[in-house]
Order: sequence, then C-alpha cells, then structure tokens
Amino acid sequence: MKKILILNGPNLNLLGTREPAQYGATTLPQVEAMCRAAGERLGYEVECFQSNHEGALIDKIHEYGRLWKEGRALGCVFNAGAYTHTSVALHDAIKGVDGLPVIECHISNVHARESFRHHSYISPAAAGIVVGFGVAGYVIAMEGLVRTREPGNSALA
Ligand code: DQA
Repeated sequence: MKKILILNGPNLNLLGTREPAQYGATTLPQVEAMCRAAGERLGYEVECFQSNHEGALIDKIHEYGRLWKEGRALGCVFNAGAYTHTSVALHDAIKGVDGLPVIECHISNVHARESFRHHSYISPAAAGIVVGFGVAGYVIAMEGLVRTREPGNSALA
C-alpha cells in the first residue's frame, strides 16, 4: 500500500487552541485522524508528522522523495505554517527531491490576511494548492493528489 505524508510545520501542534477564529477548534490529532480515515477510504497508508523545526521538515521531505522514487509513496500534503512565507530551504527541499508531488495546504485563506502571508516559497515548487477550506483542506488535498496521480482509483466518486 502506498503512503501519503501529512506534513505540518511550526505552531500547527497548537491547533484547537491557537487563534480559533482563524484556524477553528479542531486539534491536530483530530485532523490527523480525519486524514487517516480518508486514507483508509482511498486505499493509502497515511503517515502524519509535525515539527516546529525547519530541518526536521526538510529531512522528512527527503525521506519521502526516496520513497516516491521507489514507488512506495504517492505524495505529500504540506502545511508549512509560517515557513511558507520565509523558507527558501523548504522550497529547495521540494525541488531537490525531484518528483514527489507536494500539495501545499493552508487552513485559512492566506490571501485575505496580512500582506506578509501573500507570498509563498512553497507554491512554485508545489504540485497543487488548497487554501481557505479550514481543516477539511487536508482531505481535499489528499483527494486531489489521488485524482491527479491515480485517477483509476475505484474509491473515487
Ligand atoms: C497557515 C497560514 C500561515 O500564514 C500561518 O503562519 C500558519 C498557518 C494556515 O494553515 O492557514 O501557521 O499555514
């Protein structure tokens, strides 16, 4: 069974209590459970990883780049949090693994917020972008990944 990585960056471990007006009341373990359930429905193993450290996120992308080349991973859904707006290193990591499809995901509509959130270093390296659907965006991104990479999947409506 191929793997899908749900990758979350800084401060997303605080989901549920962090600025609930912006990010909602759902906790990260609840989001991860939703993604695992979607994985079961779609026929993929889901690994969830969150880190507040840029290097740990880079290492995980490298690991999945290798899995993707071996045909053992479908792709990655990535909410890079604030690193979205600052990290050339994460941009380079996605480009560097050369192939792994990464869907950039943001809970809030970053374009309707402060101007420093309008630029993303991830977007030019991403295979797709899901923005502003709340935590449902993670599952929408997983479905997008499956629809575009494995359109013959019989679990798709
Ligand atoms: C976020 C948006 C970012 O601007 C912010 O720094 C986050 C969360 C989102 O999911 O809406 O940490 O990525």
